[in-house]
Amino acid sequence: MLDIGCGAGVDTLIAGMMVGREGWVVGIDITPEMLRRADENRTKTTFANVAFQEASGESLPFPEACFDVVISNGVLNLIPDKLKALEEAFRVLKPSGRFMIADQVLITEPSDDIESQIDNWSG
Ligand SMILES: C[S@@+](CC[C@H](N)C(=O)[O-])C[C@H]1O[C@@H](n2cnc3c(N)ncnc32)[C@H](O)[C@@H]1O
Repeated sequence: MLDIGCGAGVDTLIAGMMVGREGWVVGIDITPEMLRRADENRTKTTFANVAFQEASGESLPFPEACFDVVISNGVLNLIPDKLKALEEAFRVLKPSGRFMIADQVLITEPSDDIESQIDNWSG
């Protein structure tokens, strides 16, 4: 399984539990500080099947069709070239694989009112 934009690694570590000992999970992120926190969180577990790696969702350092599942939580909205990120996710995903995203989608023009934009994140 691949977690794009793993942040501090919480989703990646939960995925590590879900895939069991036979499975592997890789969390990638572009921010070294987040990867440091993710690795620190991993050391608090006994998981040997979870790894973290610095990479961008726009250029994944993996061969084609190598993951059964790709997940991404709150990251695509931060990636400027969303088409490239989606192409990369589907490139590394096996044809029978699953891609699961949690993200923000604008359905109207964004408001100029900064306070209402902040509310969008917590509402
Ligand atoms: C809102 S956090 C989400 C973290 C994690 N998925 C979670 O749910 O806790 C967004 C993360 O995306 C990462 N990120 C931003 N742009 C990225 C990119 N182009 N490729 C990979 N990760 C990126 C940030 O460094 C940050 O850790």
